[in-house]
Amino acid sequence: MNRVTVIGSANIDFVVELPRRPDAGETLLGSDLRRFAGGKGANQAAAAARMGAETSFSGCVGADENGSFVCSQLAESGVDVSGVIRVDRPTGTALVLVTPDGENSIVVSPGANHALDVEFAEKKGDEWVDADMVVLNLESPLRAVEHIAAMAAHRGIRLLLNAAPAEQLSAETLALCDPLIVNEHEARVLLGDEGASSFAAVAQRFLDRGVRSVVITLGAAGAVFGDSTGIATVPAFAVDVVDTTGAGDAFVGATASELARGCGLREAVAFASAVAALSVQSVGAQSSYPNRREVRDFLDR
Ligand code: RIB
Repeated sequence: MNRVTVIGSANIDFVVELPRRPDAGETLLGSDLRRFAGGKGANQAAAAARMGAETSFSGCVGADENGSFVCSQLAESGVDVSGVIRVDRPTGTALVLVTPDGENSIVVSPGANHALDVEFAEKKGDEWVDADMVVLNLESPLRAVEHIAAMAAHRGIRLLLNAAPAEQLSAETLALCDPLIVNEHEARVLLGDEGASSFAAVAQRFLDRGVRSVVITLGAAGAVFGDSTGIATVPAFAVDVVDTTGAGDAFVGATASELARGCGLREAVAFASAVAALSVQSVGAQSSYPNRREVRDFLDR
């Protein structure tokens, strides 16, 4: 138990801190440029590994220095990166603007991440037959993501799908999610115009659409989660926020780790909330992730 495979994106993040977001046509001066390992898939893998899961990452980076940096950072977090291939495109790059409230605006140039296609999924499929949990997000081409979801189902492997950035998913793929993890905005995109009176009602709509379990992350308002046994809320931890970049990925990776080790959804979501709370207290995505002992200390304080 506790083998997690993340198949997805890896980016290099270039981060500038700014007093506020620029308007159209405006130039603003910010902090010194900083470089971090990022990308939703890589971040989620780093978080799962730091929580103690035996974690592997499959994805595509460029044959450039940024690709080497991203792989070495993942390996430092304890992730097996033997499933990464180097392709003839630049490593995915994210331009991240962080404002004093800790919020971020991100633009991604996917580059090498585009090479994660159905052919890649088929070629690398043998590398994760033993996984207890497969983690996917939507920063990779949708056709490949849905293909891998179906491969996981065929093998009887539990699927955690983080629908970020938001895109419509087929009914077949939705029905394989256990859990589907979305934030408020992603929930709105996936459900279309259907309004709901509360986040519990939003969770119920996902369950009605066939997802096996669902988690809706609400930032400072905590998280709502549900499955066939019911719907409940876990509160967030009150902390000083420096940078929220990658906090959602920390939550996803930690949830995967806890579910793979056999925890129930409530326990996994509560633990992942603590991991996310720790991750927002310093700059960067993977660079801000705690290890398991730090999470335990935080929960015991
Ligand atoms: O979720 C945060 C991540 O989104 C960043 O690390 C950036 O690379 C983008 O993929």
